[in-house]
Amino acid sequence: MPNADSTKNKTYILAIESSCDDTAAAVLDNDKTLSNVVARQAVHEEYGGVVPELASRAHQQNIVPVVHQALKKAGITKEDLSAVAFTSGPGLMGSLLVGTSFAKSLAMGLDIPLIDVNHMQAHILAHFIDEEGYDKPQFPFLALTISGGHTQVVRVDSYFDMTILGQTLDDAVGEAFDKSAKILGLPYPGGPLIDKYAQSGNPKAFKFTKPKVDGLDFSFSGLKTAILYFYQKEVAADPDFVEKHRDDICASIQYTIINILMDKIKKAVKQTGIRQVAIGGGVSANSGIRKALKDAEAKYGWKTFVPKFEYTTDNAAMIGIVGYLKYKDENLQGSGYIETHAKAQSRLKF
Ligand code: KG4
Ligand code: ZN
Repeated sequence: MPNADSTKNKTYILAIESSCDDTAAAVLDNDKTLSNVVARQAVHEEYGGVVPELASRAHQQNIVPVVHQALKKAGITKEDLSAVAFTSGPGLMGSLLVGTSFAKSLAMGLDIPLIDVNHMQAHILAHFIDEEGYDKPQFPFLALTISGGHTQVVRVDSYFDMTILGQTLDDAVGEAFDKSAKILGLPYPGGPLIDKYAQSGNPKAFKFTKPKVDGLDFSFSGLKTAILYFYQKEVAADPDFVEKHRDDICASIQYTIINILMDKIKKAVKQTGIRQVAIGGGVSANSGIRKALKDAEAKYGWKTFVPKFEYTTDNAAMIGIVGYLKYKDENLQGSGYIETHAKAQSRLKF
């Protein structure tokens, strides 16, 4: 039930994302971002990972100011809103509950539609936010979703028709970055730091074995163990080993992880014949994977889609674009599915 705004070709969606440790709110005008506000929670740094209870409490503190800021930056008031979109999952239950309760109450108070959004689908559909200088993928395309909680190769046939072709059997790729960083004594989240130090290191200085996993699935827990054993052996021989070789270690870890991801994407392209490849999720901020993907355009003739930096790690604009696409077509509301390659009954309703 679009309000009067839609007759003026204006659809303002307020989007809320609180699935993990970032409290985020955004306002979209149709498919354009007017504001995209993220409050990152520094409280987890000293624990080496996200502490769920602390995350929920920080969301409780942040949600009202973050939403206020998003509306203010967008130059609208809550009465101008057409709908409220929110992340319904996957994520930490306590964290999701804060965003969900807030979104529900606001939509109910304003008497406007409430649209639930799947977080992983949003990482993919972030490519449909209208941005100058950024092309949108054409259907069908392949999406590699790489984050702190997921690693998936997805075939995307339309906005809401997605099939998971492969996924991690254990750790997510973001976890592989973060846990390797933790072994090296770096704070959480370690992914961006490994990326930073890798830029001045030699990627072939140390060799880590790549896992052998069938099909398009992934495994990263073996790599984490290999890095732990490598660290223990080298530090036993020289306590200053990490300080002396930090950049080379980071470059070698990053090189191995990127090779694992690129091998699977090459396989997926071969298997499906689809040569358009998009990446999404926090790890798509990594400079190495961004470069490897762009290099693949010239090398293999692919067309690749790398998100604008602000749409890589968790943000609410990506929730807003899904909200907008669902709002535009009432038939789509709640009708999206991800179908795993394993079993039809594991279909997840978005
Ligand atoms: O999508 P995201 O913000 O949250 C989840 O949905 O999980 O992804 C967070 C993950 C973390 O593991 C973080 O270390 C990783 O993305 N990450 C990176 C980089 N920036 C964020 N990993 C490698 N290189 C980066 N530049
Ligand atoms: Zn995410």
